[in-house]
Amino acid sequence: MAGPRNSNHRAWWKESSVYQIWPASFKDSNDDGIGDISGIISKLDYIKDLAIDIVWLCPAFKSPQVDMGYDISDYYDIADEYGTVADVDKLIAGCHERGMKFLMDLVVNHTSDQHEWFKQSRSSKDNPYRDWYIWKPAKYDENGNRQPPNNWFCRFQGSVWEWDEHTQEYYLHLYAVEQPDLNWENPPVRKAVHDIMRFWLDKGCDGFRMDVINLISKDQSYPDAPITNPNRPWQWGHMYYANGPRLHEYLQELGEILKDYDAFSVGEMPFVKDEKEVLRAVQFERNELNMIFNFEHVNMDYGKYGQFDPGSLQLTDLKNFFERWQTFMYANDGWNALYLENHDNPRSIDRYAKASEEHGLDASKMLATALALQAGTPFVYQGQEIGMRNVPKSWGIEEYKDLGAVNHWKSLPKDDKEAQAIALVEYQKKSRDNGRTPVQWSAAENAGFTGPGVKPWMSVNTNYTTVNAEAAVKDPHSTYHYWATVLKLRKQYLDTFVYGDFTLLDKPSQEFFAYTRQYDDQKILVLSHWTEKTLDWDAAANGVNTAKQVLLNSYEGTDEALPRFSGDKWTLRPYEAVVLIL
Ligand code: GLC
Ligand code: CA
Repeated sequence: MAGPRNSNHRAWWKESSVYQIWPASFKDSNDDGIGDISGIISKLDYIKDLAIDIVWLCPAFKSPQVDMGYDISDYYDIADEYGTVADVDKLIAGCHERGMKFLMDLVVNHTSDQHEWFKQSRSSKDNPYRDWYIWKPAKYDENGNRQPPNNWFCRFQGSVWEWDEHTQEYYLHLYAVEQPDLNWENPPVRKAVHDIMRFWLDKGCDGFRMDVINLISKDQSYPDAPITNPNRPWQWGHMYYANGPRLHEYLQELGEILKDYDAFSVGEMPFVKDEKEVLRAVQFERNELNMIFNFEHVNMDYGKYGQFDPGSLQLTDLKNFFERWQTFMYANDGWNALYLENHDNPRSIDRYAKASEEHGLDASKMLATALALQAGTPFVYQGQEIGMRNVPKSWGIEEYKDLGAVNHWKSLPKDDKEAQAIALVEYQKKSRDNGRTPVQWSAAENAGFTGPGVKPWMSVNTNYTTVNAEAAVKDPHSTYHYWATVLKLRKQYLDTFVYGDFTLLDKPSQEFFAYTRQYDDQKILVLSHWTEKTLDWDAAANGVNTAKQVLLNSYEGTDEALPRFSGDKWTLRPYEAVVLIL
């Protein structure tokens, strides 16, 4: 019998799992309070033991660090605080020795304003680099006041246009003022990007995570965006710059290079919700990207006016999202990246499981099960494997480091205490800083992230005495070992978990997320419980009455007696997850 459609194209990158490292907060090796590449090298065995296949390093290139390395001033060199190119060579070798691959972040929608290209570009209108960036003349309103070329809102507050006194034009920056957008319409820009890719691939890098890669082609008429927030002059303009007119042409060019090296690729794609449009980038035979990072589930708790506007998230919304992308990609020969956390998002135990301190680790195992056994390539973000949590509720604004939160704070009226109080509550839930506190390595001072007596660049979460890697590695029942078990199980039942089809059960439930994976005659149920009560799952109502084998149970391991999983109703403990062969 022929396997299901997903298995038409088997590929190593579908079968792999990825571990994401954000260098500033991973591990400090020289006690300057900042994580570095030698620190990463010292933890490669820890990553390998997690059953990880690929290590992705967030940008460690030369950078003024306005946006923590996503503002690159030299693509061919490493930031002093992180180490040297020779250290990266060692890191790559260390991954390869352990049978792991290595990815870098390709940040090429924009550069730093300190990049030589931009310094040249802004030096005069006739400089050969002028067209490497996006420059436009001012508009003037009826009173003769200078205005930016259009009304687009910047991700980090204000207008996306910055006036340059020297050459009397505006330049575009979709992100920080210090992150000018490159002009991909200009062929030498694309050639320069291709050269960067080949340089690192030739050094042994195995592929890229591509930063906001769907924003590289803009509508060349730069129209005003519709008014969606009447309280400010600037409006979201993504309909004119996300998945723009020439995106796929540019991605095909990148795809040619990736193909030469059999390289891995995952493209970050904010704003896009249209499956068919995503499919153009990830369908196997189109040879653009392997997979993308979707944003729908990480925006679900945003309010009407964005990230720091209060919002709420329902399990049913999350399940609908998973089901839609699982089944669509399955039916159309595409592929999904599976993730709940990264350096731009809060911790999943808080955001999705909404667990108390008591049940944090139960919830973290449940989330690992629910996520990583779907069809797709699972991503684990540093600290997720030990159940790290959001920053403490007691944090004041002075603790927050990310310019997302900091600029938002500055945009609030100075004396509006109420707005400030609301904002602090929202930062603690959704600020990027939640995912950026130093990794908790041990119960020692500074969580072992840096040496005793050193002030880490960002405060360590106060729960490090209980939540830390040393304790997790020692405890056979920890989340760390559980993640490894899940990732190994996925490989052990590869046909079913990687290539099998996906069916969502019990759609309306706000307490359970249940799905089956099936390949030929093998059918596996992944059942997860998302509350801290003890609750019955109505197996019979979902057409399930008995299981042949327990493959995994987040509470007990695999040795559990089967009778619990027969009959009409099955009782599940707080945040319990179970994987059963039906
Ligand atoms: C991506 C990165 C984020 C950065 C932004 C601009 O979203 O993940 O950290 O701020 O791109 O480069
Ligand atoms: Ca350091």
